[in-house]
Amino acid sequence: MASRYAQVYAGWRADPERFWAEAAGAIDWISPPTRIFAPEEGVYGRWFVDGVCNTCFNAVDRHVASGRADQKALVYDSPITGKKKSFTYGELKDEVVALAAVLRAQGVEKGDRVIIYMPMVPEAVFAMLACARLGAVHSVVFGGFAARELATRIDDSRPRVIVSASCGVEPGRVVAYKPLLDGAIEAAAHKPEACVILQRPEQTCELTPGRDVDLAEAVAAAKAAGAGVECVPVAATDPLYVLYTSGTTGQPKGVVRDNGGHMVALKWTMENEFGVRPGEVFWAASDVGWVVGHSYIVYAPLLHGCTTIVFEGKPVGTPDAGTFWRVIAEHGAVALFTAPTAFRAIKGQDPKGEFIGRYDLSRFRTLFLAGERADPETIKWAEARLGVPVIDHWWQTETGYPISHNPVGLGQLPVKYGSPAVPMPGYDVRVLDDAGHEVPAGTLGNVVIKLPLPPGCLPTLWNADERFRSAYLSEFPGYYKTADAGYIDEDNYLFIMARTDDIINVAGHRLSTGAMEEVVAEHPDVAECAVVGMQDGMKGQIPLGFVVLNAGVAREPAEIEKEVIALVRDKIGPVAAFKSVVTVKRLPKTRSGKILRGTMQKMADRETWSMPATIDDPAILDEIGSALHGKGIGG
Ligand code: COA
Ligand code: AMP
Repeated sequence: MASRYAQVYAGWRADPERFWAEAAGAIDWISPPTRIFAPEEGVYGRWFVDGVCNTCFNAVDRHVASGRADQKALVYDSPITGKKKSFTYGELKDEVVALAAVLRAQGVEKGDRVIIYMPMVPEAVFAMLACARLGAVHSVVFGGFAARELATRIDDSRPRVIVSASCGVEPGRVVAYKPLLDGAIEAAAHKPEACVILQRPEQTCELTPGRDVDLAEAVAAAKAAGAGVECVPVAATDPLYVLYTSGTTGQPKGVVRDNGGHMVALKWTMENEFGVRPGEVFWAASDVGWVVGHSYIVYAPLLHGCTTIVFEGKPVGTPDAGTFWRVIAEHGAVALFTAPTAFRAIKGQDPKGEFIGRYDLSRFRTLFLAGERADPETIKWAEARLGVPVIDHWWQTETGYPISHNPVGLGQLPVKYGSPAVPMPGYDVRVLDDAGHEVPAGTLGNVVIKLPLPPGCLPTLWNADERFRSAYLSEFPGYYKTADAGYIDEDNYLFIMARTDDIINVAGHRLSTGAMEEVVAEHPDVAECAVVGMQDGMKGQIPLGFVVLNAGVAREPAEIEKEVIALVRDKIGPVAAFKSVVTVKRLPKTRSGKILRGTMQKMADRETWSMPATIDDPAILDEIGSALHGKGIGG
């Protein structure tokens, strides 16, 4: 069957407001919007300005009311703890209402912020939905971030309450959350009024008297008391959540997501882009701490009446490289969404895909990959072994759902390896040169999106309109800067090649090398430093630090390197995967003093590089070369 993509995209282009008004019809509004787009509102306009709604109602209550009460809403599958549990939509509603009652008892009201610092357990999802029910704004912080990252987010979002757990479980170790939580609260200037803590049997923690509430006890008490919490009406433009993402400094950016546009857009993507129907099982193997988790573990599948899977484990080692296939088979998933790095990990351990044949994957239709560039080799491996379409799509925390995709729901387009296919309705994607002129097809440049951004994309950064303008809108007036470099070919297929800023992508996780440099520079023996992203066969990229020691430091460089590594792990978290540091005499710089990070990265990656014309002292590159050589890195 021919794809309807071209026709649907043309329909959006011809009349975007009509397109989104129609899509909005799939949402239950308390008061439907009469104005679809208001260009005069917000930084670049706002969607559905006079609509009134509640996201929790659309994700939970309306399915209970419309005959899905006994359908599974959420399956928790945790090979790392050996636990499995499922919740129907009816049960999900009970859990969410009870937790909303607990939060309300702690003073949480519409507009208040709640930080959720949790491992991949169902309670994390309940907490998100409970906030949505109350009209409160959640901010989920990934469990792999350390206390300081949490503290920065506490100070920026100023939560009334934090929901957390006693621990997370990683292969071979239990991660105690309580010391991280306490450390963060101590370091932060803002203090939450209460913490609601899930005690996990793998490692419980002492609750802080007067501040901490036991989540399970409080939820049980709320249920016993029959506490009911109705969905609080919010404006479509009210924030649903703030999700912090790496910026170019240690201060992360608080990406704001509103209620109305987010629901409309996500609901539309499920059927049209992902080709999934209500009642089917959709699995995004990510973490609720990332945008993929927000959109495709929690909100989109639930808004669509699907069953979602909360998976607490890894693609390999929990217990083996067959875990993904076991989960798909056991729960009947029709689609899996993950990052290419997960497949590289599986392929590394099971190159022939022998585990795949041991499971019944007859219901599995599509594999979706995003979060980082999908290398053609990985896609071909997955296609050949799984026998289903493997679909690469491209988006960012800021947009919340795919910018470009191969929309299997509208009819799959031909796959071009290395390309996340074509722009989705809502997105007018262009490639500009540095002066802001559009470049011909096939020419590499800055990938931008013509304003306005579609519903669901960030309207601004939390309490930071000016930072939003300067980070995204000012360089190319009239466009949103994605900070990705790439090109569009003659068939309108997009190719994303690299970031134009200092963000690196480590195992599908977005990290700022600038933030790492800030931490490395804190070491008392470090005079100067640079962090670059170096290629890695499994994780895509990993950080590599260069340090110049203070004059007169007599200690062994190896010892200092170890301390620098520990410092980054302690301040940013293990997720930074910062494990390589090279001590050098000097850093290569331009005559104006700019560190030549790009050249050092090319040397580490054994790519051909040319002597930058502006270099101050070419001899330094020889020193860098031999220092890398000494560590067995680069050529
Ligand atoms: N809490 C605490 N620590 C965490 C954590 C969490 N939620 N998540 C990761 N970490 C730790 C890991 O234990 C690891 O610590 P270590 O240095 O002691 O080994 C470190 O952070 C790096 O984690 P990760 O990048 O996940 O690497 P890994 O070696 O543990 O696993 C993969 C590699 C490829 C299996 C894993 O990255 C993966 O499953 N990736 C899928 C990608 C993904 O989900 N992307 C999200 C966007 S779609
Ligand atoms: P995040 O905000 O964490 O989702 O990271 C977004 C960034 O990841 C993008 O700006 C890209 O640099 C990269 N990215 C995400 N998906 C893809 C993809 N399919 N292909 C190439 N890069 C991608």
